[in-house]
Formats: sequence, C-alpha cells, structure tokens
Amino acid sequence: MTTHPVDLRSDTVTRPTPGMRRAMATAEVGDDMFGEDPTVRALEDRLADLFGFPGALFVPSGVMANQIALRLLAAPGQEIVCDAEAHILAHEEGSPARYGGIQTRTVSGERGLLSPETVQRILRTGNAYTVGTRAVALEQTHTRAGGTVYPLETLRALRRLTVRSGTAVHIDGARIWNAHAATGTPLSAYGAPVADTLAVCLSKGLGAPAGSVLLTADEHLARARSLRHGLGGGMRQAGILAAAGLHALDHHLERVAEDHDHALLLAEGLREAGCSVRGPETNIVLVDTPGAEDVVRRAAREGVLVTAPGPDVLRLVTHLDVGRRACRRAVEVLMAAVHADRRDKSGPAQTEPAQQRKESEAA
Ligand SMILES: Cc1ncc(COP(=O)(O)O)c(C=O)c1O
Repeated sequence: MTTHPVDLRSDTVTRPTPGMRRAMATAEVGDDMFGEDPTVRALEDRLADLFGFPGALFVPSGVMANQIALRLLAAPGQEIVCDAEAHILAHEEGSPARYGGIQTRTVSGERGLLSPETVQRILRTGNAYTVGTRAVALEQTHTRAGGTVYPLETLRALRRLTVRSGTAVHIDGARIWNAHAATGTPLSAYGAPVADTLAVCLSKGLGAPAGSVLLTADEHLARARSLRHGLGGGMRQAGILAAAGLHALDHHLERVAEDHDHALLLAEGLREAGCSVRGPETNIVLVDTPGAEDVVRRAAREGVLVTAPGPDVLRLVTHLDVGRRACRRAVEVLMAAVHADRRDKSGPAQTEPAQQRKESEAA
C-alpha cells in the first residue's frame, strides 16, 4: 500500500482545491497592465477594505511585495531597521541592497519581534553626517522565529514611536492570517492603523497557488505599479490567479485556526516523546534536536517531509493539506527518526556536506 507523503516543509505546498480551480477557470479577466482585469480589481479592493488601506496592488509573490514596499519607503543610500532573522534579509537574495541600494540595520528581536524600547534606542535622525532611519520593517508572523505573533499593543506602540520620529513602518504580513486566527484581532487593526505598507500573501495559509497584495497609501500606487513593472511582475490576465485569492478569502480564512490546532497536536506528540519543542504560537513548530539534517533525511525516507532551518533545529509547518491523521503519522515517523539518529550518533560521528544542508531549508 502506498501512502501519500505528509508534507510539512511549508504552508506553500498546498494544491488548489477543486472549488478553487473552478473559480479560477471561470474568472472574468482583462489586461491588468491596462487596469482592465475586473477580478484583480475585486481582489485589490477587497483587501484594501479588509486592512483599511486606500491602495492595493496585486503582485506575483511575497518577495516582490516586500521589495516594492521597501523601495517606496527608502531611497538608495537610506536605511531601514529590521530583525536580524527577518525574511527580507534571510530569504530575499539581498534584494534591499541589490535592487534598492537600501542599507539595512539589524537588531535581534525577542523571538524575532522588535520591542518599542529596542527600536527607540536604535532609530537615528539623519543629518549631513548621519544616515537617518527611514523605515522599520516588521514580520507578522515571524517565520524564522517559528510563527511568533506581534501583540497588537506592541504594533500600536511602535506606530506611536515611529510617527513621532517621522519613520515609516512596513509589515511583511505573509502570515498575517495566522496572527489574526491566533489572537482574534480584526484584520483592520493589523493594517493601516499600524503600518504605512503591508504585504499579504495568498499562497501560504490561505492555500492559493500564487499571489500577494501590497497595501499602501493612494499616493504610492503609481510608483508601486512602475516598480512592479520594472521587476518583471506586471501580469496580463491575472484574474485567473486573483480568483484563487478571492476564493481563498471566502473559504479558507476561517479554517486557518485548524492549522494551529494541528501544530499543537504535533508539538504535544513530540514533547510527550521527549523532544524539546518551541511554541507553537501559530502553524510553525520548531524542534531543537541535534543532527536535524539526518533526521530530515530519515523522515523523508518514511514519507514525512520537514526542513532543518539550522543544524540543530527541525521545522514543521501545518496547512490546508494536512489533517490530524497525517500529523499523528508525522509524530511517529519523526520520533523514530530522532531516536534512530541518537542511537547512531552514539557510534561513529557522521558529518554532512554544507550544500546538502542548505538544500533542505525552505522559506
Ligand atoms: C515571512 C515571509 N515573507 C515573504 C515570503 C515570500 O513569499 P513568496 O515565496 O511568495 O515570494 C515568505 C515565504 O515563505 C515568508 O515566509
């Protein structure tokens, strides 16, 4: 009997459901570069409304949404502040520097989250000799820290602080849906009241095949559109993709909380079996275990796919395509893999090439 793999590498691995495919197939479309795709318009309007922003722009990916936002907020030679493990630094190919000429100043947040006190300490007012901080970039939820959530009060305090110093705020909200599901905070509170720009992804917890939306002020829109075009992100009959996003908002937003229940199930199972598990606050489970790469390989042989974002850390991400039964199987397989690895390691040491280690990482 063949069993399907349990794929916990990322919440990006979901496949469109039959309903989503139907919505895509029947979408009304036009040329979005002429502003004539009604489905793209509908998606942009819907998200602008949900988060309280006047402007919205559909883009192919979360990376592009972030990179356009940063370039809206900081010019070449200017500075943004962010957490040292932020996605915009760790997984976006050095794009702030490469394409934006933007200087990034990093600080280590507690579980990836910057506190108002930390930001206040490092914000710099510019003058003829000093580079001023133009923007602070936050990540909600924080991926590399394990899906940690910024409390609304922290976001509000950061907003008050940055308004006083004339500094903008960008939020990488690839998984803002998970923060909303975990805290019950309305999406509107996570949007315009606390950020100048917000990037949200449709292809993570919501389960669409592609697409992100950049939310911003109206006056930024023309430039955002031109930056998108310059980055090769202009799309034509993109309504086919936007329809998937609209379908996801209608049918998958409410169910994101299930992913958190499944993450808890994984965490509890692994803890009971003696593993050291962080969190989870949302849908990402980090497990501290030596020889994580070897565990990844052993589990993959048994049909359970996870990643190792560091040599001693496993990462498991729950999503639309994994249910309780799959999670229980994952716990069994991972435990066997961890124990087998520990047994082997009490024998001769095993080392793995760094390249292989890199390949099992996923954003
Ligand atoms: C926090 C965060 N931001 C941005 C992205 C980039 O999204 P995309 O893969 O659509 O470019 C990811 C991808 O996983 C992410 O985790």
